[in-house]
Amino acid sequence: MKFTYVTLFENLISPYFEDSILKRAIEKDLLSIEFYNPRDYTTNKHNKVDDYQAGGGAGLLLNAQPLFDTLKEIKKRDPKAHFVFPAPAGKAFVQADAKRLASKEHIVFVNGRYEGIDERVVETYADEIFSIGDYVLTGGELASCVMSDAISRNVSGVLGNVDSLSEESFEEKLLEAPSFTKPAVFQNKSVPSEFLKGNHAKIANLKNKMAKLKTKYFRPDLYARSCAE
Ligand code: 6GU
Repeated sequence: MKFTYVTLFENLISPYFEDSILKRAIEKDLLSIEFYNPRDYTTNKHNKVDDYQAGGGAGLLLNAQPLFDTLKEIKKRDPKAHFVFPAPAGKAFVQADAKRLASKEHIVFVNGRYEGIDERVVETYADEIFSIGDYVLTGGELASCVMSDAISRNVSGVLGNVDSLSEESFEEKLLEAPSFTKPAVFQNKSVPSEFLKGNHAKIANLKNKMAKLKTKYFRPDLYARSCAE
């Protein structure tokens, strides 16, 4: 899996891959990352990459030309690359997208800053436009990291323990049951006694019940959908 980030601010993204699971994925050659800066593709003499909005409106937009030429170059080098644009106006990014995109060989995240990107670039290049939630970020970089993380952990070999993938939240359209580690009693609170007795069928049954209750309490929307299926 290769992730390309088109951004004016490589430093907002690169540190995320310098520790823990994604660092190991890069060391194991399961993942590679690269960066393109639209400022390197400007044709104006001050290397300007942003401008006021046509027709007025608050804030600056990324100009079409530098971004367009950056994406053209990436597409020329890899015609099969899949272009993802993070934007608050995109469709909601969900676990099913993370799984589906994990089978792509090359994903390009095109990060706007300021108030966004000239729409003509979006129309020409976007394969998909995603939002990571109903709030506005200062740019796409953080959203790209979120999506990259969620996608990479579905790439074969990235997680040490493959079972982590099958039991987790959203896999069964429910939140994950609470989990506990040692000691059995901590701060006067005990691990549920069933968890300590070693009957795996009973434990699985209890976990399923807890997952349902937790989902009903914290995410009634998810719960209603899982009951409807
Ligand atoms: Cl993907 N980008 C930006 N800039 N803001 C967001 C977002 C994305 N998702 C939610 N807010």
